[in-house]
Parts: sequence; structure tokens; C-alpha cells
Amino acid sequence: MKFFVDTADVTAIRELHDLGMVDGVTTNPSLILKSGRDIIEVTREICGIVEGPVSAEVVALDADAMIAEGRKLADIAPNIAVKLPLTWDGLKACKVLTGEGKMVNVTLCFSANQALLAAKAGATFISPFIGRLDDLALDGMELIEDIRTVYDNYGFETQILAASIRSVNHVLDVARIGADVMTAPPEVIRKLASHPLTDAGLAQFMKDWEKTGQKIL
Ligand code: E4P
Repeated sequence: MKFFVDTADVTAIRELHDLGMVDGVTTNPSLILKSGRDIIEVTREICGIVEGPVSAEVVALDADAMIAEGRKLADIAPNIAVKLPLTWDGLKACKVLTGEGKMVNVTLCFSANQALLAAKAGATFISPFIGRLDDLALDGMELIEDIRTVYDNYGFETQILAASIRSVNHVLDVARIGADVMTAPPEVIRKLASHPLTDAGLAQFMKDWEKTGQKIL
């Protein structure tokens, strides 16, 4: 499963990238706001760090304006994936932009039927939002399973990009189901390394090592 990092924080992206943990990046208007940076400028900087797909989201609501914004964002770098909302206009823009050879990430997907439409419109990625469904006491993981089944039934090549990931359990669950990609905030990716038994075991080893009075270096 590919790891995308869901942030516009360049320092966090660089740190995870240096560890080989970043196969791509996703951003959205809220993450751009949080970064306090200009969208074009920060997206260009991210594309200079990460070789894989970097999603940059349009903010227009009608297809023609989405297409114009998508073209401008795609001009930033060859690894831009234009992020479009899953609306009828977003699907129209998806068809046009993928027809021009651009990568498209269709976002704000909350049903398998929406994912089916995105695949038929040629989306490179579909972003089903797990956490936001869970917030409403719905089952985000069931959505990932349904999309996996539907795409496999018909051989759609659109990649399932599990989004709105909030916990390490979400990461494991989407990996079990076979999502192609997951995107998570940097803190969730860092938490994947933590286990209380690792910490306890290490503390014991350090205590015992001190008693040996030895040094390796
Ligand atoms: C995905 O592309 C979105 O940017 C993101 O995963 C949304 O996550 P949130 O629901 O935690 O805001």
C-alpha cells in the first residue's frame, strides 16, 4: 500500500520523505489555510521534494472553471494530481482533464456509487473519507470494502486512496482490505512506529545494559 501524507506542512513532508515514507501528498483548502502559505508557492515546493503524485484541489464549483483551475494547478509540476470534488460538475471536469493526460483525484467520496461514477469518468484516484463517516456513526471501512469489491468486479484501474484517516487502526484496516493508497496526517504516520511494549522492552534493555558497565563505542 502506498503512503501519501495529508498535509501542506513542508517540514513534516521533508522529514517523512527522508525516511522513505512518502509516496505522494494530498492537500485540500483547509490544509492550505493551516499552512498559511500561497497554494501555488507551497504546492511547487512540495513537488520539488516528492516525486510521486501531489494532489492540489480546485475551489471552483462549475465544470468550466474547475477545468481552468485544474490546468493552472497541473502546470505547477508534472506530478500534480488535480483534486476535484465528487459532484456532477467535478465528474465532467474529471473526464476532460484525464482526457488531457492529467492525473485526477476525485475527493469527498462517501458512497460506492459515487466511486463507480468517478471510475467511469476516468479518475486516477478516488478518495473515500473514512473518518468523516465514522464521525456520523456510519461505517467508513465498509465503504472501502464496497469500493474494492465494485472496482475488482469490473477491473476498474482507478486507485482507491483511503482518506480522512484518523488512527493507526484505520491504516491497518484499509491495508487489510487492499486499498491502493492511504493518506494520513504526519502524526498518524509517526504513531505507526509506537508500541508500549517496544518502549517497555527498550527501557529494560537500557537498565540491564547500564549494569554491565560496557560500552560499544
Ligand atoms: C484527503 O484527501 C483529505 O485531505 C483528508 O484526508 C481529509 O481528512 P479529514 O476528514 O481528517 O479532514
